[in-house]
Amino acid sequence: MANVLTPARLRLGVNIDHVATIRNARGGEHPDPARAAQIVAQAGGDGITVHLREDRRHIRDEDLERVASATGLPINLEMAATEEMLDIALRHRPHAACIVPERREERTTEGGLDAAGQHNRLAPIVARLSDAGIRVSLFIAPEPRQIEAAIKLSAPVVEFHTGEYAHAEGEQVAVELRRIVDMAALAAKNGIEPHAGHGLTYENVQPIAAIPQLAELNIGHYLIGEAIFCGLETSVRRMRQLMDEVR
Ligand code: PXP
Repeated sequence: MANVLTPARLRLGVNIDHVATIRNARGGEHPDPARAAQIVAQAGGDGITVHLREDRRHIRDEDLERVASATGLPINLEMAATEEMLDIALRHRPHAACIVPERREERTTEGGLDAAGQHNRLAPIVARLSDAGIRVSLFIAPEPRQIEAAIKLSAPVVEFHTGEYAHAEGEQVAVELRRIVDMAALAAKNGIEPHAGHGLTYENVQPIAAIPQLAELNIGHYLIGEAIFCGLETSVRRMRQLMDEVR
């Protein structure tokens, strides 16, 4: 149930990258990420998240336009802090841009952005995206120094990397959850909207969804994986329901 501390609805951004991963395995047009975006909209998703990687291993440049015009949902473009990605973001003008660290050899986004250590590199990129009306988010570890860096960079949003929480076992789960709880409160206290994502599943989403200051979760791999068994509409609806149960 919503209260004064709780944003009315916790938004669900669905990352559809891995629809493109499957498509790319055979090189054709199927399955189409634009069709996935339409299904996400029907199923109650609030946004579409895509990560245009340097190596284009899943979403490609032409997908951005197609996905955006397939649905009225806001697009959240995950991007590395490079000139190439900045140019693309400024051309496509997504609703939001989430700056992520990117290493060519990694399987997925491993760890958060070192916003604290890269202030000078990030500052012009955050400023140019913001000047273009794009809502900038920084994908960071739930640590006070990264929030301080986000404040210095005037980023309106941070997304907490929930990978450590998702992969924790035993007593460590509560420790990792506590870090996110505390950092969501710290971000909100400083006027920054906190989001969270990475490694979230039906089993581990509810303690995160219950954090009152969080405004958005971005979830991809698990939802697309579940869609193989039950369909994308069902997997998104189930996640939506689990999130709503704890708000
Ligand atoms: N948020 C960000 C910034 C990410 O980079 C990713 C992974 O691409 C996700 C959320 C979604 O993570 P997952 O695919 O594990 O649900």
